[in-house]
Amino acid sequence: MELPDRVPKERYYDPEFYRLETEQLWPRVWQMACRLEEIPRPDDYVTYEFLDQSVIVVRTEDLGVRAFQNACRHRGVQVAQGRGTCESGFTCPFHGWCYGADGANTFVSRAKAFSEHNLQPGDIDLTPVRCETWGGCAWINLSDEAPPLREALEPVASVLDAWKVESLHAEWWFACRLPANWKLAQEAFQEQYHVIQSHPQLVIPDRIPRPNRPFDPRAWLEAELHYLRMMSEGMDGMVHRSDVAVAEGIADMELPADPELAMATWQRALNDAVVAWHRGQGHDMPDLNELEAQSLNEPMGYCFPHYFVLPMYSSASAYRFRPLGPEETLMEIWSLTRFPEGTEREAPPPPEVWGHDDPRWPPIPAQDFSNIPKQQRGLHAKGFEYLRLSEQIEGHISNNHRVMDGFLAGLPYERLLPAMRSLNVNPLEMPVVDFEL
Ligand code: FES
Ligand SMILES: [Fe+2]
Repeated sequence: MELPDRVPKERYYDPEFYRLETEQLWPRVWQMACRLEEIPRPDDYVTYEFLDQSVIVVRTEDLGVRAFQNACRHRGVQVAQGRGTCESGFTCPFHGWCYGADGANTFVSRAKAFSEHNLQPGDIDLTPVRCETWGGCAWINLSDEAPPLREALEPVASVLDAWKVESLHAEWWFACRLPANWKLAQEAFQEQYHVIQSHPQLVIPDRIPRPNRPFDPRAWLEAELHYLRMMSEGMDGMVHRSDVAVAEGIADMELPADPELAMATWQRALNDAVVAWHRGQGHDMPDLNELEAQSLNEPMGYCFPHYFVLPMYSSASAYRFRPLGPEETLMEIWSLTRFPEGTEREAPPPPEVWGHDDPRWPPIPAQDFSNIPKQQRGLHAKGFEYLRLSEQIEGHISNNHRVMDGFLAGLPYERLLPAMRSLNVNPLEMPVVDFEL
């Protein structure tokens, strides 16, 4: 990046740039590997795949959640596929070497046929991968030098903790294969500038009071309810249907005639009603007005480099992006909401991967997905050189690219961490941040 508000287009398709990312970025960052409800009981495991790597994430009886490289120490065969429960550990399908859920080698058939140096204790255990949990997810990192997860995710970790993000559970989980670079795909969800053109159903004139028009609190409230229903349609967590129902339940309240006061009164009342409803259901639910007072009620929390949560009232959508190639991305969406504490919940089944134009997509992502492939193709135009960003409202995109440049240059974490802190925030309406790397 030479100028902070111009992104050279090659960053989105050049194979050499992609190769740099695979070498200098992905092996050095914390990646969201799975949701914890995918592995609710001891011995439950999933495999997390990125680029040419496969990592086993397993819940152990007494060592918490652990991760290992998915390669038998004999001749490299992957010992686990997909997901399951490894009650008797992992058995390699090739020659039957066995490993416990703690990764320790427990059996080598015809061991006497090997020389001692190929059966060194420890050396034939599955190779551990750093793994930590936060926010209802297990995260992995291939780098030994990386800071602990929590440090790498601040300040957003604290903001989302205050909102009790760890109490959310997945209701559903969708996946999309997008013919676009993973950064391009992700950036389509990190600014609000596109909403007016791309999501016209979310632009409801009566929601925006006009200075020279009389304000009708009733019409405003109807418009607000309409907006909540539009956000909820097919998306659930992005304004959960239970929160829409709570809003409809208090919609007969009297609002002041002053627009500012009316909107503040409604927000306060709705926050309180949502909190009361969820607590009544036995859910672990933060006090939204208290969060508001501490400026901790954010509509989005970004976790560099590939995951974010979109909290709205009680619930959220969460997005994860993984490159499948320079111009192909696997994007996943979860709808997350709260359930009574202490109840065990099965994880939703892993998603069938849909095309970007699959008719089953809810309206909001369908609209975003319709633009992304056109943008990826448009970048290749001979006369197009760079993306022209607004330094005031599309700054997060720039900040992200510049931190990435720090990774690609192989800078040490102490230099990267301060800049990462300006990324792990709410990216919407974020200006270009002037950081030194
Ligand atoms: S490759 Fe695993 S036992 Fe041979
Ligand atoms: Fe969008």
